[in-house]
Amino acid sequence: MKAQLEQIRANALEKLQALNAEQELEELRVRVLGKKGELTGILKQLGSLSKEERPVVGQLANEVRAAVEAAIEEKRAALKAAAQELRLQKETIDVTMPGQLQEIGKIHPLTRVLEEVKEIFFGMGFSTVEGPEVEYDYYNFEALNIPKNHPARDTQDTFYINDNILLRSQTSPVQVRTMEQQKPPIRIIAPGRVYRSDEVDATHSPLFHQIEGLLVDKGVTMGDLKGTLEVFAKRLYGDEVQVRFRPHHFNFTEPSAEMDIMCFGCGGKGCRMCKGEGWIEILGCGMVHPNVLRNCGIDPEEYSGFAFGIGLERIAMRKYNINDMRLFFENDLKFLQSL
Ligand code: PHE
Repeated sequence: MKAQLEQIRANALEKLQALNAEQELEELRVRVLGKKGELTGILKQLGSLSKEERPVVGQLANEVRAAVEAAIEEKRAALKAAAQELRLQKETIDVTMPGQLQEIGKIHPLTRVLEEVKEIFFGMGFSTVEGPEVEYDYYNFEALNIPKNHPARDTQDTFYINDNILLRSQTSPVQVRTMEQQKPPIRIIAPGRVYRSDEVDATHSPLFHQIEGLLVDKGVTMGDLKGTLEVFAKRLYGDEVQVRFRPHHFNFTEPSAEMDIMCFGCGGKGCRMCKGEGWIEILGCGMVHPNVLRNCGIDPEEYSGFAFGIGLERIAMRKYNINDMRLFFENDLKFLQSL
C-alpha cells in the first residue's frame, strides 16, 4: 500500500508538471483527491491493515494528500499568473503605432470670400436680404427697366421656365423686391446664385454667384458709390489695390459703370492673368434709374440711390490667384485643401 501511495504521489506530480489548463487541473484533483479518487480508495482499505501498519500508512496517506493538494494549488496559481500575463501582452496598447487620421473639412473658398464681403459691408451699415432663385420675368427684367424684346435681355442668356417665370439671371431683382417692401433709407446686400445658359469654360458657368448691393436715401451721389466701392476693394484686397470706374450701360442704373481692379500679376502692364488688359473687372454699378425707383413706389425727386452687383467667383479667383472658375465647382479635394 505504501508503494501504491508513493505511486499516486509520483504520478500526480508528474501529471501536474505537464498540464497547462485549469480544467485539466480540476480533473486531476477529482481523480486523485475526490470522493471516488485514488487516494480515497486507499484510505478506505486502511481497515484491512494490521494495527501497527495502519498509523504508518495513514500518516503517509495524509502526507501524500497534503503534498498533492499543495502542488495543485501552486500549479493553479502559476496557471492564473500565466493567463494574466498573456492577457496583458495581448491588450498592450502600442502608443507609437500610427493612428487613423481624421479628415477635417474646410469652408469652401467661395463661402469664405462671401463671409469676408459680408463683414466688410456689415461694417458700413449694410444688412443681408435674400430673394428667390426662381423669379418672375417682371422682377428680373421689367421692373428693372428692361421691357420685353429689349436687346439688353440678349446679354443675359436666360433659362425660362415659362413666359413669366425664369431662373434669375442676376441678383438685381432683389433690389426691386426690397424697395417694394422697405421705405428708404435702404442699405442692403443680397448674395445668391444666379443662372445663365452659358457653356462651361474657364470663366463661365451656368450657375454662379453675385452679391447685389443697394443704398437708397436722400441726396445719395455717384461720389458715395465710388467711395463705398473703393473702400470695399481696399478692405478685400489690401490698401495698395488700385480701382478704376469705366463707363458702361445697364438699363436699371444711370449713369452706369464697371469697376476694375489693377491686376496684381503685372501692376497694370498687362499679363496672362488679366489677358493683357492690366485691369480686371469685378463688378457692375450705377445710380439707380429713376424709372426703377418709380416702379417701386419711391419718388426719384425725393430719393436717389446706387446699386452694384459683384461677381463672387471673379473676386474669389483674384483673391486666390486662380484662373479657372471650374475649380470652385469640381469639388476636387486636393484643390480645396490647398487653399
Ligand atoms: N446685374 C448686373 C449684372 O449682372 C450688375 C449690376 C448690378 C449693375 C447693380 C448695376 C447695378 O451684370
